[in-house]
Amino acid sequence: MRLLPLLSACAVLLHATHACETDEDCSLNGICVQKCSNITAAAARPAQKVCRCDAGWFGHDCGRLDLAPATRNLGYNYTTVTNPGDYSTHGNASWGGRILQDPEDPRLFHLFTSQFANGCGLGGWRPHSQIIRAESRTGPQGPYHYQQTVTTPFRHNPDVFYSPADDKYLMYAIGVDAGPLDRCMSFSYTAWPNNISVASTDDIRGPWSEFRMVVNSDRPNGIHATNPSPFPLWAPDNPTSEIALLIKDYDIFTSPQWDAEYTHVYNAEWNTTEGGDNALWTEDPFLWRDKRGNWHSLNHWMIDYVEHDGRRYPRVGAHLFARNLEGPWHFRLHEAYNSTVNFTDGSAETYNRRERPKLFFSSDGEMTPLYLVSGVTPLNETRKSSTFIQPIGTKWREFERDLGVS
Ligand SMILES: *[C@@H]1O[C@H](CO)[C@@H](O)[C@H](O)[C@H]1NC(C)=O
Ligand SMILES: *[C@@H]1O[C@H](CO)[C@@H](O)[C@H](O)[C@H]1NC(C)=O
Ligand SMILES: *[C@@H]1O[C@H](CO)[C@@H](O)[C@H](O)[C@H]1NC(C)=O
Ligand SMILES: *[C@@H]1O[C@H](CO)[C@@H](O)[C@H](O)[C@H]1NC(C)=O
Ligand SMILES: *[C@@H]1O[C@H](CO)[C@@H](O)[C@H](O)[C@H]1NC(C)=O
Ligand SMILES: *[C@@H]1O[C@H](CO)[C@@H](O)[C@H](O)[C@H]1NC(C)=O
Ligand SMILES: *[C@@H]1O[C@H](CO)[C@@H](O)[C@H](O)[C@H]1NC(C)=O
Ligand SMILES: *[C@@H]1O[C@H](CO)[C@@H](O)[C@H](O)[C@H]1NC(C)=O
Repeated sequence: MRLLPLLSACAVLLHATHACETDEDCSLNGICVQKCSNITAAAARPAQKVCRCDAGWFGHDCGRLDLAPATRNLGYNYTTVTNPGDYSTHGNASWGGRILQDPEDPRLFHLFTSQFANGCGLGGWRPHSQIIRAESRTGPQGPYHYQQTVTTPFRHNPDVFYSPADDKYLMYAIGVDAGPLDRCMSFSYTAWPNNISVASTDDIRGPWSEFRMVVNSDRPNGIHATNPSPFPLWAPDNPTSEIALLIKDYDIFTSPQWDAEYTHVYNAEWNTTEGGDNALWTEDPFLWRDKRGNWHSLNHWMIDYVEHDGRRYPRVGAHLFARNLEGPWHFRLHEAYNSTVNFTDGSAETYNRRERPKLFFSSDGEMTPLYLVSGVTPLNETRKSSTFIQPIGTKWREFERDLGVS
């Protein structure tokens, strides 16, 4: 619990028209406060309460990510390179990832991403995906440069974080070891279960331990285990080694420790079925706990801009939130962001696909989202995917200025 400074006892929102009653009405991304009003107005009608959004969020219910204009040619975008022996022409296509600040050198940023081997591009993701590490010395937005191949194919969908309780980096990913691949291929998940595994290392540059399976794809309750999003429950006043793990179709697990048994603690109360016009169909969840202890996720809200027999569902980003990990979770039926990006050069572009959302937060305890990382493909392009990074709100400017990287 935090004491609110006196200044924020009311919200100055002259044109606010949407009233709130609880912090849930503000998506738990802000608080529902008395609207500041002058004496005359206050006497005339009962005081209205409105949402005061945390930095990085906006909208009458604080349910929209406050994306700032992005700079072109940053992120990790190597779809035009050629490597000796490539089987196709999609270069080092990649698909979203996780940014980590170097523990010793704060001006160095690491990106763990899924890269598709053999030039096979996004269409060959299973089995060609492997995990690589790239570095940027020009700030968290990149451009990032390839450094290291972390795994062989097929390993995909990595999420990497530092676990204070273990003093280790943990990497959750899906996949199995593919063996040699002699041409661009594509396997169905029925032939190749995804299976979620975890590996650890003492050093961000590795070497990494063997993967240890934590949730396999053949569970009695039919859970199709993919898209791992782990979050350590560690806090300065509660130095636990417990880990929460959210996966596709909104199943949540907890484990007393990263390499112990994972117990299923929550499954979605809504219809997660794939396909049709199901407006509640999501994937690629990204889980975090905010400064107040509330839980949130960003999700790829199926489906993208131009897909699915030409039908257009520009939903793209959904925000879900809960006071407790075990729910109830609230699903806001409006987009948190979409596939249109404004650039600093004044141009705008709409992507064909924009998936795998992951946030980079401030480390000052506020959990302010500073950057959104996602996997994108340009319009009319399905294989030349890249990893795109967009700043959020205004706090990222201070972060880069303080680091001296802007
Ligand atoms: C104060 O309230 C009066 C009466 O509702 C209104 O006309 C005026 O615009 C308000 N002033 C401010 C600064 O909100
Ligand atoms: C990635 O690079 C390609 C080739 O230069 C370019 O056409 C595309 O717009 C870039 N994508 C992004 C998201 O920057
Ligand atoms: C592309 O990835 C390969 C590893 O698969 C690496 O050796 C090469 O340096 C990368 N090229 C670029 C331009 O990043
Ligand atoms: C992945 O899960 C499937 C289904 O449970 C299982 O048959 C397979 O052995 C697992 N693969 C690995 C590499 O553990
Ligand atoms: C869930 O969504 C699927 C896909 O649209 C639909 O076929 C099914 O009837 C829905 N189930 C329920 C219980 O609404
Ligand atoms: C995304 O949202 C912006 C601003 O609300 C809007 O201008 C744009 O048309 C939207 N893009 C899509 C693909 O819906
Ligand atoms: C892009 O900028 C325009 C003009 O400021 C704004 O109206 C629009 O909402 C922005 N779109 C997105 C997706 O941020
Ligand atoms: C994508 O393809 C459609 C249909 O062929 C075409 O109308 C549109 O101009 C294309 N867009 C881009 C950005 O190439």
